[in-house]
Amino acid sequence: MWQQGARRIASRFGQRFSSASSTAGSNRHAAATVATASAVSGGLWFATRQQDSKVACDVDPVAIGAATLGGALLGAGASWKLMSGKLEAEKDRHSKYWPRKIIMLFGAPGTGKGTQGPKIVDELGLPQLSTGDMLRDAVAAGTPVGKKAKAVMESGGLVSDDIVIGIIADRITNADCSEGFILDGFPRTVQQAEELDKMLAAKGECVSLVMAFEVPDAVLEERICGRWLHKGSGRSYHVKFAPPKSMKLDSDGKPVPATMKDDETGEALMQRADDTAEALVKRLKGYHSQTTPILDRYRPKGVVKIIDGNRGIKEVSADVMKGLSSN
Ligand code: AP5
Repeated sequence: MWQQGARRIASRFGQRFSSASSTAGSNRHAAATVATASAVSGGLWFATRQQDSKVACDVDPVAIGAATLGGALLGAGASWKLMSGKLEAEKDRHSKYWPRKIIMLFGAPGTGKGTQGPKIVDELGLPQLSTGDMLRDAVAAGTPVGKKAKAVMESGGLVSDDIVIGIIADRITNADCSEGFILDGFPRTVQQAEELDKMLAAKGECVSLVMAFEVPDAVLEERICGRWLHKGSGRSYHVKFAPPKSMKLDSDGKPVPATMKDDETGEALMQRADDTAEALVKRLKGYHSQTTPILDRYRPKGVVKIIDGNRGIKEVSADVMKGLSSN
């Protein structure tokens, strides 16, 4: 009797989930469900076969249990291999025919691009490409690009277009950009935007979303001068708005540098050489005269979303998440 019941269940699972597998597409949950269901049906099928072959022998529950488990594992392995093959094929098809998702974080220094960017990275799994970080790495490594960029960056000026365009053109061909990427701090001039669009158009692509953070200039000095960074991860802290857990203040209410440590790794935080009130004046001037005209290029395409960045970090994040969805 139990064999008949088991056969029925095995056959039902088999039918139901083989049809599910044909429509499952690239859905990973569906793949896991199919593998599990196939495992159960495989196990039951294997157990009934084992029992049939014994015909008149005594029923041995341990043997049946072991056979069920063995069959289940075999069934799961085979189904998983089949489904992961289908997933790979689906992934190849996707990267061949669908355009990449290209998001631009736009805003003056201190408006929250570096603070909100990692949340988008977590949500979409796309890399955040910060030209500022790439240039700072080049400066720290003393490369020829770094040597050219160092003084300009420290004074708050813009590095030449050909250098940053070259950096980005190389970076977006990396494998981690195959599904898309998030641009942070690029483009910063109309020429950079034109070159970016040309690079993308050559592959039938275009910018999918420009997230523009708006914060009054008067608020930015406090944000920039109170910023501390974790170099390894790019995590951004602020003495007032987002202090690290380890922060201690001296008798003047200023943070004690030795106590400024990253919450996650405990490593020392650092301050950027251009995060001074003097350099900020120049950075803001450059932003308003050379960078904001870029928005006029993307507005008519309907891809610009304005984010009010002059609110608490969590409120801004909630808007950023809403802005990511196309609904
Ligand atoms: P880059 O590194 O790109 O700096 P930036 O554009 O000046 O932007 P920031 O990193 O200062 O601002 P952010 O918006 O990321 O602020 P954050 O989120 O950290 O560029 C540096 C330099 O490199 C340039 O000046 C230039 O020389 C060169 N360069 C780079 N790209 C270039 C290009 N394409 N062409 C030419 N030259 C280029 O926030 C700041 C602080 O505020 C943090 O402490 C944070 O905790 C706090 N904060 C954030 N959000 C909030 C909030 N909602 N409320 C309160 N506090 C907040």
